[in-house]
Amino acid sequence: MNSDYTENLQCYQTPPMDLFHSGHTVKICAPMVRYSKLAFRTLVRKYSCDLCYTPMIVAADFVKSVKARDSEFTTNEGDRPLIVQFAAQEAQVLADAAALVCPFADGIDLNCGCPQRWAMAEGYGACLINKPELVQDMVRQVRNQVENPNFAVSIKIRIHDDLTRTVDLCRKAEAAGVSWITVHGRYVEERHQPVHYDAIKVIKENMSVPVVANGDVRNLREAENIHQMTGANGVMVARGLLANPALFAGYEETPLKCIQDWVDIALEHGTPFVCFHHHLMYMMERITSKQEKRVFNVLSSTSAVLDYLGEQYSI
Ligand SMILES: Cc1cc2nc3c(=O)[nH]c(=O)nc-3n(C[C@H](O)[C@H](O)[C@H](O)COP(=O)(O)O)c2cc1C
Repeated sequence: MNSDYTENLQCYQTPPMDLFHSGHTVKICAPMVRYSKLAFRTLVRKYSCDLCYTPMIVAADFVKSVKARDSEFTTNEGDRPLIVQFAAQEAQVLADAAALVCPFADGIDLNCGCPQRWAMAEGYGACLINKPELVQDMVRQVRNQVENPNFAVSIKIRIHDDLTRTVDLCRKAEAAGVSWITVHGRYVEERHQPVHYDAIKVIKENMSVPVVANGDVRNLREAENIHQMTGANGVMVARGLLANPALFAGYEETPLKCIQDWVDIALEHGTPFVCFHHHLMYMMERITSKQEKRVFNVLSSTSAVLDYLGEQYSI
């Protein structure tokens, strides 16, 4: 794992479950391949995000290869509470991966929602919602094999159109000791269709463990509405935070201060140019004209980006 690790990290242990018992809607940054990395997590935590997920990591590679661990997982002292999300299709592999990250994170999440063809073909992601016994076994093995009882084990799912199947999956996970369940309220084949918040409400009504609602939240008002509508204990946001990392702090669009913070944090972490630039394109999408985008989006070096931001925004 990456050398940002220090011995101190191992001292920090706040049970993430405490967040769900605070009575407030827990505000969560979603797992996002390529994007929810340490630098971006640092940024959203500055703007009222309570809990962050890493991008999805393939557990089998993580367990097998030091190189995979070093490139896929970087954290530091301030990066808590943190959930590491894994793609897995075998209980022992997931338990081994969980044991490896246990000293450096607050829990793991099993991805049961990725609809991409490569993931489904490997037995990862959304195909797991059709294998409730396997999901149950995976949650149980992690629970049994990780010594820290405060270490969270969550799952992130998509829904079936026959909701009884989803409720059955969630109940099995609950019986195995799952800490909470995140529901992206879409069927596996749905992309831009409206989110089925009514389904999230039904799932919440049938569960004792906390439920997190996910899908199409673009501002804090919508997060509160979805909390009210579904009864969910937390709200997870992906694209809304890419577009505005200050969303949870109540900003309607990315404030310039947040762009400045991203530049500072990204440079401090040595963020590769493509990632640095992509985040800025997302953050500035709503606050720049077509003409400005045409210029900004084709910039090809950090110094060109810094010059542009300096000239246009005095950043
Ligand atoms: C760029 C990007 C990367 C994503 N990567 C992951 C991932 O690694 N694991 C996962 O469970 N979901 C992933 N998702 C799905 C999101 O976590 C989330 O479930 C989905 O985007 C719906 O939430 P939203 O409407 O707030 O974007 C990703 C989404 C985006 C846009």
